[in-house]
Amino acid sequence: MEESLSMEKIVSSDDCALTLKSGDLEVLSTPTVLAWMEEVSADLVRRFLKPDESTVGVHVELDHIAPAFVGDKVEVKSVLKERGTKKFVFDATAAKFDGKMLAKAKHVRVVVNRKQFAK
Ligand SMILES: CC(C)(COP(=O)(O)OP(=O)(O)OC[C@H]1O[C@@H](n2cnc3c(N)ncnc32)[C@H](O)[C@@H]1OP(=O)(O)O)[C@@H](O)C(=O)NCCC(=O)NCCS
Repeated sequence: MEESLSMEKIVSSDDCALTLKSGDLEVLSTPTVLAWMEEVSADLVRRFLKPDESTVGVHVELDHIAPAFVGDKVEVKSVLKERGTKKFVFDATAAKFDGKMLAKAKHVRVVVNRKQFAK
């Protein structure tokens, strides 16, 4: 069975393009959607890691399909599609709770040693 994880987010003004300067409208920003997808993917993969390991994002292809607004509830989901020795590949989605798709992405994370990577 495919491993997956979901989390619920509520759009705040801090998440919007106007605040992050990735645009000038008060709509959910693309960088926020990506950060949420990375968060859920990193959480999903943690169960496979040793205590001295972490993962870092190395690749993303993201389609931002529809806007979301302050107060909207968003379900962010990641599905583990491939697992290599160091590499994990995910399909991530963000959707409104009525099912309307907001964004979808392919995301790749690589396992690193915490101490060695951060020095
Ligand atoms: C992560 C990092 C150390 C990997 O470098 P590396 O150890 O030389 O990686 P490798 O070449 O051994 O690759 C490891 C695996 O990841 C894959 N990979 C690495 N970069 C990739 C990319 N950009 N896209 C897709 N796959 C990638 C490799 O194909 C390899 O897969 P395999 O194990 O199936 O053969 C390096 O890319 C890096 O430091 N990137 C910056 C990451 C970062 O700072 N992210 C922000 C913080 S979250």
